[in-house]
Amino acid sequence: MITLDLTLPDTRYPIHIGHGLLDQVELILPHLRIPQVAIITNDVVAPLYLQRLTQQLEKHGVRTIPVVLPDGEEHKNWQTLNLIFDALLAANAERKTTLIALGGGVIGDMTGFAAACYQRGAPFIQIPTTLLAQVDSSVGGKTAINHPLGKNMIGAFYQPQLVVADMDLLATLPERELSAGIAEIIKYGLLGDIDFLGWLEANMGKLRARDPAALQYAVRRSCEMKAEIVGQDEKEQGIRALLNLGHTFGHAIEAGLGYGKWLHGEAVGAGMVLAAAASQAMGWLDEQEVARVQALIAAAGLPIRSPDFGAAEWLRHMGHDKKVESGVIRFVLLQKLGQAIIQPGLPVPLLESLFRSPHIDPTLARQ
Ligand code: NAD
Ligand code: GLY
Repeated sequence: MITLDLTLPDTRYPIHIGHGLLDQVELILPHLRIPQVAIITNDVVAPLYLQRLTQQLEKHGVRTIPVVLPDGEEHKNWQTLNLIFDALLAANAERKTTLIALGGGVIGDMTGFAAACYQRGAPFIQIPTTLLAQVDSSVGGKTAINHPLGKNMIGAFYQPQLVVADMDLLATLPERELSAGIAEIIKYGLLGDIDFLGWLEANMGKLRARDPAALQYAVRRSCEMKAEIVGQDEKEQGIRALLNLGHTFGHAIEAGLGYGKWLHGEAVGAGMVLAAAASQAMGWLDEQEVARVQALIAAAGLPIRSPDFGAAEWLRHMGHDKKVESGVIRFVLLQKLGQAIIQPGLPVPLLESLFRSPHIDPTLARQ
């Protein structure tokens, strides 16, 4: 097991990465304020891992409250969030009851937000079960639900006590979900580490074959980069926005197609191609570099062409991005490979030609 630390001005927490960690409840026990937890999970993850975690905790005298939610991005909303509060109140959960997120990014984001709100703040722990959640969403304290008009629009910055990333849980992850997680890993290489980008190009086959050493290295490097960036800018006043590479376009794809049609990682993959193409239009990347980005995203098994919403619809969806300031969309682009920057606004003709380019697939749009 390796342990990274995320250090913030008023807190600090460990990120454990390794094998067999779900059974090592001694990692969790010292972080509980009272011997009571609510385990928030969904109806896909519960049959796989809930009983194992529950038994281990109960063996150590911890009372567990299971909360099993419907699976899927389309349930990341107020109605499902309320199911968590209903269950907590029905079980007399207290302010010191720890909420444990056992699941992917959807469960992690909703559990964190529920913890931020329940009795004005209960402790929570992240046990991410998808690759995407292990490399990104479980670390850094962004919690949220979606609104029909915008992705992750309602939420809070609220840090967990601890992150436990058990690589063994990835064995049951569907292929498509693995690729979605790799999208966020590619993001780190593109935004800030050209050597890691090269490593990903050389090791993509191993990652997709779930080679344990390759996966562990990729999770570790991603968490190191995320911890470093969040440590400098917890509330996204500056540098943290770079972690949104591909996301302004990606969130528009998710909202535009309807949540749950494309996976978040798939939308980010195609979004990073658009970000690279926009960077080329700005004169920062050349054609070969855009082709390199595209090839890596395709090699990860991700879509490289985005849906055709038309420029007006694209702009409407991107207008709901959380990086918008005074009505101006702030894009994360690439000044070069391995170096992202924030670009406040892009000329409308540039965007219009981007949304008519071969990076758009005219056969894809909301049905
Ligand atoms: P997800 O949570 O929907 O999980 C993907 C699917 O895999 C689901 O069907 C889930 O039930 C299933 N699953 C989970 N673990 C499994 C396992 N071990 N074996 C088999 N199936 C398993 O999606 P995700 O990709 O993990 O997360 C996407 C969400 O994360 C989005 O809502 C996105 O907005 C959010 N996100 C948040 C942050 C952040 O910083 N908070 C960062 C990136 C993404
Ligand atoms: N996933 C983007 C962030 O955590 O800031």
